[in-house]
Amino acid sequence: MSSKIRLGILGGGGDSLIGVLHRVASAMYDQYQIVGGVFNPNWEENIGFVEKIGLPTNRVYKDFDTLVKEELKLPETERMQVVSILTPNFLHFPMANKLLENGFNVICEKPMTTSYEEAKILETTCEKSGAIFAVTYTYTGYPMIRQMREMIANGEIGKVQKIDAQYYQGWINPVIHDKEKRANTWRLDPEKGGISCCIGDIGTHAFDMIEYVTQLKVSKVLADLNYVYEDNQMDVDGTVLLRCSNNVKGVIRTSQIATGEENSFTVQIYGEKAGLKWEQENPNYLYLLEDGQPLRVLKPGHAYNSELSLDGTKMPPGHPEGIFDSMGNIYKGVAKAIKKEPYDEGEFPTMIDGVRGMSFIERVVESHKNGNVWIDIED
Ligand SMILES: NC(=O)c1ccc[n+]([C@@H]2O[C@H](COP(=O)([O-])OP(=O)(O)OC[C@H]3O[C@@H](n4cnc5c(N)ncnc54)[C@H](O)[C@@H]3O)[C@@H](O)[C@H]2O)c1
Repeated sequence: MSSKIRLGILGGGGDSLIGVLHRVASAMYDQYQIVGGVFNPNWEENIGFVEKIGLPTNRVYKDFDTLVKEELKLPETERMQVVSILTPNFLHFPMANKLLENGFNVICEKPMTTSYEEAKILETTCEKSGAIFAVTYTYTGYPMIRQMREMIANGEIGKVQKIDAQYYQGWINPVIHDKEKRANTWRLDPEKGGISCCIGDIGTHAFDMIEYVTQLKVSKVLADLNYVYEDNQMDVDGTVLLRCSNNVKGVIRTSQIATGEENSFTVQIYGEKAGLKWEQENPNYLYLLEDGQPLRVLKPGHAYNSELSLDGTKMPPGHPEGIFDSMGNIYKGVAKAIKKEPYDEGEFPTMIDGVRGMSFIERVVESHKNGNVWIDIED
């Protein structure tokens, strides 16, 4: 029998954006085997997609409840060991909660839930179950982001004194100005997306990234959001001032109406001794800035990188690592946890990160609605 981890998938069908990323990532280190799932709520689309990509059809279920019921009838040695949730946001909580209650490990897309309250319930369910839970803040899997985390932890830039994360996209620009399109986009529907679009979708990546690379905790936020139209209930742009636990100050600038921008996510951390700068659209370059010194560019796969960074590199230097590799590294870390092998806590984001992400989203919206005031972030 295969020693691969039996993986089920919810969502991520042929009509989805993120499905292919998870399927490729799960295959990358030969650790997982996709055994079934529910890829689309429409049966014809669901089964048609599975046939098209050549997966076995015998464990493709008509809906989520049937998946749980039927999988629980199988002996543990055949049952799905982990299920990835790649559906629109409003389904993350009910699916993850039921999976954890029934002993499945879970890999969940971000934002983890649609509210902080749901996130706290999920945290309790997870603690009771003892299951492995990962939230796919994808970008934390990049080798040069891991390197950034290790360099900051080792004091190579000195005490952190300025944090700046910018996440600019432009895809909502043509949607927001068209009444029909904005009514048909699930990310702009609070019933499906939660209380926030821009902050929930990409601000949360920036927040998690800052805490990941600096290992500081953001303790307070002050936000100014932009909804563009009065009838639009979801933010599509926002700036958030940050204050961290040790009074380090920073800013997150996010937009989905930054016309023409694609996925321009940049992270800049400045310390007393040096600065580090990284851009998602050129993820193989980590820039080291120092007073009076020429700019240095660090790249993946070289021996000067940390163990954590090198663990996420498969090819010799000069073979670019991309978004698939980054997600592949997160799946690799989760596989180690499921197999009870040792792993570094920087290998994948957990429930703690998911809960903090939901606290961030809610407090940012609250800060904006209360007239741009400072609000504390809870754990
Ligand atoms: N980590 C990242 O960088 C990243 C990037 C993009 C999207 N996401 C997240 O991934 C999730 C999905 O986003 P997307 O852009 O792929 O959405 P999408 O709308 O493109 O795809 C959603 C998929 O879920 C399926 N689905 C809907 N209801 C379902 C149900 N009841 N049962 C089973 N399948 C169902 C749809 O058929 C579709 O295949 C969101 O939570 C989003 O925030 C994360």
